[in-house]
Amino acid sequence: MYSFDDTLRKIETGITKFRFNEHPRSLYDPIEYILGLGGKRIRPVLTLLACNLFSDNVDQAVKPALGLEVFHNFTLLHDDLMDQADKRRNKPTVHKVWDANTAILSGDAMMIYAYQLVGETPEKCLKQVMVLFSKTAMEICEGQQFDMEFESRTNVSEEEYIEMIRLKTAVLLACCLKTGAIIGGASDKDADSLYEFGIHIGLAFQLQDDLLDVYGNPETFGKNIGGDILSNKKTFLLANALKMANKDQLAELTNWMEKPAFIASEKISAVTTIFNELEIKQLTEKRIQ
Ligand code: IPE
Ligand code: IPE
Ligand code: MG
Ligand code: MG
Ligand code: MG
Repeated sequence: MYSFDDTLRKIETGITKFRFNEHPRSLYDPIEYILGLGGKRIRPVLTLLACNLFSDNVDQAVKPALGLEVFHNFTLLHDDLMDQADKRRNKPTVHKVWDANTAILSGDAMMIYAYQLVGETPEKCLKQVMVLFSKTAMEICEGQQFDMEFESRTNVSEEEYIEMIRLKTAVLLACCLKTGAIIGGASDKDADSLYEFGIHIGLAFQLQDDLLDVYGNPETFGKNIGGDILSNKKTFLLANALKMANKDQLAELTNWMEKPAFIASEKISAVTTIFNELEIKQLTEKRIQ
């Protein structure tokens, strides 16, 4: 059995071997920039570990695993633009270093490259993997659009929230696991069980991301704290706060959400105070469990 670190090394080595065309640099530099900033690489590692449950030959899953990591990084370029996020992995985001058009087009190029890599799945299961990958990619678009739509709503139910994060985040982790399982030669039943496992850890993963967006250590989180509060994201935290707030707290939350102009640090601090009063951190931790 390969360890997490063994598979991580295979992924990091694979990424350093990527070679893009020389020109235009402004298309390929941002791709090398984002891929060079690291990240946990949890998705491709899950693909290799899932493959290894059924086969000793994990190398046959490396190209598709790399494709899934490139795809994830593509979604980050577009997500940071949509979320107006200035920082990722402790560095300025692509649309900040370059501009919005660059983030869009380099992101598009990464999606194409991701398809090329996943397309190098062994012939025997190529069709099945491509169908799963395309379905997943479309679901992520759906999740991202729900996430954006919810910004301007105040009545997002827990059920709607969970479905939104299932689509934007959990299905990719599930897809990574199932892809590895399929390539490793798992039975349909085992591959589906790993997919379900991926959905569950994916939901917990996004809940934790929402939690860290408010309570994380900026250094290890690598993103600006409070970004979700500033854009009125209906995270698990805000959706529940709106539901649990008393009259005064609700008036204050609504006031901050409707303000067209504000000082960022003041809004973050006021909303966090209400989260603290309502013990939203503990509630989120319980839901993660
Ligand atoms: C960020 O994913 C996007 C979310 C789904 C929360 P990760 O937290 O896996 O980001 P990296 O790749 O490790 O930077
Ligand atoms: C991101 O959700 C999901 C995708 C990238 C598809 P977030 O918007 O919460 O991710 P971060 O916090 O920017 O990494
Ligand atoms: Mg974001
Ligand atoms: Mg987002
Ligand atoms: Mg987030």
